[in-house]
Formats: sequence, C-alpha cells, structure tokens
Amino acid sequence: METSRQWPDRVGILALEVYFPRTCVNHTELETFDGCSAGKYTIGLGQTNMGFCTDREDIHSLCLTVVQNMFDRGVARPDEIGRLEVGTETIVDKSKSVKSVLMQLFAASGNTSVEGIDTTNACYGGTSALFNAAAWIESSAWDGRYALVVAADIAVYASGNARPTGGAGAVAMLLGPNAPLALERGMRGTHMEHAYDFYKPDLSSEYPVVDGRLSIQCYLTAMDKCYQRFGSRTDKKQLTLDEIDFACFHSPFTKLVQKSYGRLMLNDFLRDPSPNTSSGKYAGLESFLGRKLEETVFDKDVEKAFLKASKPMYDERVGPGTLLGTQVGNMYTASLYGSLASLLALKKPEQLVGKRIAMFSYGSGLASSLYSFNVSSDVAAVAKLTTSVSHLPKMLESRTKVPPAEFAKMMKLREETHHLAPYKPVADIDLLYPGAYYLASVDDKHRRQYERKAGGTSRLENGQD
Ligand code: ACO
Repeated sequence: METSRQWPDRVGILALEVYFPRTCVNHTELETFDGCSAGKYTIGLGQTNMGFCTDREDIHSLCLTVVQNMFDRGVARPDEIGRLEVGTETIVDKSKSVKSVLMQLFAASGNTSVEGIDTTNACYGGTSALFNAAAWIESSAWDGRYALVVAADIAVYASGNARPTGGAGAVAMLLGPNAPLALERGMRGTHMEHAYDFYKPDLSSEYPVVDGRLSIQCYLTAMDKCYQRFGSRTDKKQLTLDEIDFACFHSPFTKLVQKSYGRLMLNDFLRDPSPNTSSGKYAGLESFLGRKLEETVFDKDVEKAFLKASKPMYDERVGPGTLLGTQVGNMYTASLYGSLASLLALKKPEQLVGKRIAMFSYGSGLASSLYSFNVSSDVAAVAKLTTSVSHLPKMLESRTKVPPAEFAKMMKLREETHHLAPYKPVADIDLLYPGAYYLASVDDKHRRQYERKAGGTSRLENGQD
C-alpha cells in the first residue's frame, strides 16, 4: 500500500459490497392492492419489485451487515481502515452516529484510530461521504490507510402515492489510491439550493413530508445545472453525451432515470443542435429548436421526443445500471451506488476498461453533484471489482416475495414500534439473508442489541440459508 506523502494517483473505489433486504413486494400486485390502474407503478414509474425491511432490520443492522460482509470477503482488514464515513438520512438517534455503532466491527482488531462520522442530506449523504473520504486520501492528513464509505437507507413512505417509490439497501465502498474506478480530477459539477421538496420534520416518524411534483422539478433542474458545470471546460468546448460512456443516476424510480437521460440529450441539443439535425442524431427534433431549457421541465412533447431519441444510447449506457433501482427501489443515499454496482454486475470487464462513468447524485432539500469515474485499462483489476458484485442478479432472485397485505401490515408494525423502548422485534429471522445482522432487542434506555444470522458471503451469493 502507498505510504508516500505525494498526491496519490487514481484515488477512487477499490472494492464494493452491496446489501438489500431479502423481503420484497411486487409492483404489479401492489397496483391491484392499492386499487390504482394497472401499469401505474410498473410502466408509469418503471418499477418491478420493492425491497422492504421487517422490524428486524434498521439502519444500524444494514450497515453492520454490509461492512462485515466486505471484511468477510477479505478485501481489507479492520486494522487497514483509517477513515470510515457513513452517508444516511435514516436517523434513529439525534446524537449517536451510525459510524460509532460500526466501530463494534473494529473492536477485535484493536483499531480505534478511525476518523470520519455520519453525513446527512437526504439522498446526497453518501456522495458527500465519498468526496470527504477521497479528499482525506489526497490530503496531508492521510496516513496511507484505506477509507471506507457506507451509503445506506431505509426508504419508507406513508400509505399513498409515494409509497411505491420506497426501498432499502446499503453499499460499502473501499477507497484508496491506484483504484480501478478513479475519480476524474476536475470533472465535477455541483448545485446546492434551499427547497422544501422532501424533508423529515417529524422526528418521531420514519416518513418524510413530500411534495412529489416539486421534488421532480428540483431533481431535473439541479441535473441541468450540474451537467452544465460538469461539462464546461477551459477550451470552451462543452462536453456532450458522446463523451460519457456510461451514466448512473440517483434513482427514486426508474422512469425518472429514463427521463433524466433524455433531458441530458435535450441539454446537448439546445446548446448545439448542428450539424446533427435533419440527417444526424437529432433528426426529427427540429421543432424544438430555440426552446428555453427552464420552460421544458414538465413539457410532455419535449419529454417524449427526447426519451425516444435517446433510447438506443440509454439502453446501452444507462439501462444496465438500473437493475437494483428497478428491483429494490429507492435506497436513498445507496441508490446511486446501487446503480454503479448494477452496471458493474451486468457489463463485462472488457466492456468497461478505459471508460468514463458519469454519476448524478441528488438529495432533496437540496444538494446535487455530477461527477465521473475513469475505469482502469487493467482488465484484471476491473474483473476483480466486477466479480465482487456479479452475484447480485442471483441474490435478487433468492428474495421472498411477500403479498402486499403482509407488506402493509409490516409497515404498520414499523410505524407503531418506531422508537418504542423497550421493544422486542417479532419478525421471523428466516426472512433474512444468511450473514445478516438483525435487531435482537431495544432496552428501556433505547440501547439496541444486534445479533448475526449464521452464514456468510458465499451462502449469500448462492441464495442459500
Ligand atoms: N399505465 C401507465 N402509466 C401510468 C398509469 C397506467 N395505468 N397510470 C399513471 N401512469 C403514469 C403517469 O402518467 C405518470 O407518468 P408521467 O409522469 O410520465 O406522466 C406516472 O405514471 C406516475 O403517475 P402520477 O399520477 O404522476 O403519480 P403520482 O402523482 O401518484 O406519484 C410521485 C408519483 C410524485 C413520483 C410519487 O410517487 C412520489 O411523491 N414519490 C416520492 C418522491 C420522489 O421520489 N421524488 C423524486 C426525487 S426526490 C427523492 O429521491 C426522494
């Protein structure tokens, strides 16, 4: 491992570990149960299944599981970690960090010298944690050890139109120099603003207050701003989608990702439609020339036309990254990194080497960034990374599909027992993946005790109990 005091090369992601709950509800069944028109969740929102946690899992257990699974895989030992950052908006304690809970996993190694703490702003906390960890490695404070970033959340909504856009999951990322996925220097566009589009003012509830339409407007407008800044270069030549090999998005629901990519093409088109109109890639879009970007957010004609025009590129460059978003749902801070893991799981190392992966991160309230990774040209290094997530499709298949009525009951139980102390969770341990940590009890002082289900990563990969 590099220990020199020079600015290290290729700082970025060395390894990834993904965890999501084993229980899910099917969106077609949910449409019927909710009494809405067939296709609303599946076609309208682009969703297939939604992962959810029973009362056995909370933010601590999700993070304990994903970090221990990464250690079990042998990619790094606890004593090799010098910084641990957690990005989450799932708060069970207003003072004690999730990171401090994770320090239990370091106790046996004797390593208590671990900087970093939690970062919160809706779905953006994971990205901020990643930027902080990378900045530490590039700083004079770096001591040569790895940084570990955990993005994790439980996304649940009150019953109603936002509920089908829930989900849950955790992604752990090991950061260091000489990484197969290196953060591209200078390739970052950020937009921050005050908005009440989605927020959690009721500290006794897991549910947010959401203005759905405003949240979509904020998301798309923030993306426009980030794209303009991300792509602006000193040579005055704005970067275009042609120079982005793959793109991952924060995914509240997959249809928004499709619309977002189409909108990036709209950005390119309005900035420079020539010479691609009439015979080129913008053929048929001439009627949109001269439109003002800010007036097109909810313009259905524009949206449809650019969705269609961008579809071939979307299918190749974005579609593979939507696996977990479609199958698990919104994982809030983990959503963007679940998209990255999906892309790595579905593409062959040879298709990834030397490529640019753009990453759009959005957190309501609001904070957003568009940045990129350069994939190493070393096939073996990339293959090592993709192997660590290649089991994800199998892991998805081994889930238990719970009927919507049972799911609704579980949501009600979570509602009634959230912050209850003392409390003994009741859900069946059999519903968890092997190796998952789970909440065993909460005592009268709100202290949470966790246990781990037997079995490790190899059984998890095979979907075995
Ligand atoms: N068949 C096919 N499509 C259908 C059908 C049907 N039977 N019925 C409706 N649709 C389409 C609609 O036309 C609409 O598509 P469009 O937006 O492309 O026109 C889509 O399904 C959704 O229908 P709406 O009526 O717009 O849905 P609703 O208003 O009930 O809720 C919303 C959608 C706002 C996304 C809600 O789920 C929500 O508030 N979610 C949480 C907020 C959110 O995720 N925001 C995104 C960014 S912020 C974040 O990440 C939290």
